[in-house]
Amino acid sequence: MTEEDMGRERWSSTVGFILASIGSAVGIGNVWRFPYIVGTNGGGAFLIPYLVSVFLFGLPLMMLEFAIGRSTGTSVVAAFRSIQGRFSVAGLAVVAVAGLVLSYYLVITSWVLAYALFFALNRPMEFGAFTGSYFPLIFYLISGTAVFLTVRSGVREGIERVSRILIPVLVVILLFLVVFALTRSGAAAGIAFYLSPDYSRLADPTVWTAAFGQTFFSLSVGMGVMLTYGSYLERGDLFQNASVIAVTDMLIAILAGLVIFPLVFTAGLDPAAGVNLTFITLPAAFLEMRSGMLFGALFFTMLFAAALTSAVSMLEVPVAAMMDSCGYSRKRATLLASGIIMLFGLPSALSYTALELELFGTPLLDLSDYLFGTIGLIVAGLIISIVGGWYMDRSRICAEIGGCRWQQRVYVALIRYCVPTVLLITLLASLLRIGG
Ligand code: PHE
Repeated sequence: MTEEDMGRERWSSTVGFILASIGSAVGIGNVWRFPYIVGTNGGGAFLIPYLVSVFLFGLPLMMLEFAIGRSTGTSVVAAFRSIQGRFSVAGLAVVAVAGLVLSYYLVITSWVLAYALFFALNRPMEFGAFTGSYFPLIFYLISGTAVFLTVRSGVREGIERVSRILIPVLVVILLFLVVFALTRSGAAAGIAFYLSPDYSRLADPTVWTAAFGQTFFSLSVGMGVMLTYGSYLERGDLFQNASVIAVTDMLIAILAGLVIFPLVFTAGLDPAAGVNLTFITLPAAFLEMRSGMLFGALFFTMLFAAALTSAVSMLEVPVAAMMDSCGYSRKRATLLASGIIMLFGLPSALSYTALELELFGTPLLDLSDYLFGTIGLIVAGLIISIVGGWYMDRSRICAEIGGCRWQQRVYVALIRYCVPTVLLITLLASLLRIGG
């Protein structure tokens, strides 16, 4: 008898579940987004809005997702339907966002893999030359296949196993790189840029909305990932588990900055944002240093481990939905979902190549990040917080998060009132950003 015949798949243990969730949370967002946002939004002072945002808004939404998943015992669409029939469509929207975010996230994942290999083989390639070649397409296929194979192997044998191996590897490499980076000559200047607190920035609302946006993306909440992962969980204190995941995610993001800025400043380079920081500035910094190939290979291997486990979690959302709502086998659902997502991602994959696919003068990859990773994620988060917070029985949420004492009441109030409000504010701020 296969695992599937025996009923719903399950994590092998709470540790397995936590590692898989950390795998989802810790991703490209921790490494190329968080450090730069900190550096340009008040340095060390940014940690105040970030902590507030993680504990007051991110954590409650994560617990809500776990609670919906565990109490309904099924994935997004079926879970929403069981809360109220008419919400299936809302569930479908959440699944679509997960798939769309994955379609471009996979592109960046594939670049990371390519760079890891280039450095390991002592053949670094300049970003322009790389994107002008066929390599992006080849690595896109390889990364897509890796994600596909992992999810196809199932919750325990695939997702959990990969996370159990890759998360410790990631942490060890990261710690090693932190020690190395902090002993470089530019460490002090790098850390000054990164963490020198500028408390006056806390009066600026955009610093706060930056913290909110980063929180939801980095904790992987608002896309049904944690809901789906929660549906494979049997027991355990959700508050404790969610706290461990959120704190680990934050620590890894902070440590990533301690690697990046000392290296960038040691090489005498200007810190940049996003694509440029990871694929242009940092590689240039590696080329400047002794044994740079080794450190470059380690850095990109670490980043690939982070990206792969996040991509896997996004694919699990549509796959689980197809299995639970259409009765597909895992093999069939995985093939269908990854096939569709990879086709959707092709334009993004090609947008930085010689074809230069653009819309309104913006490369499709950047446009996807804005439309799906920013706006889509917030809208999906709103859907989850409203459907779960307002239409699921309060007693049912309480039961999942450990009873109905005052602490749980506070969390339910946060879920119902504060999380949707903050998501709305973040949505407005993001919409204005493109107008302004
Ligand atoms: N948290 C991941 C990162 O930081 C991205 C992600 C978002 C993964 C939403 C799953 C769901 O890169």
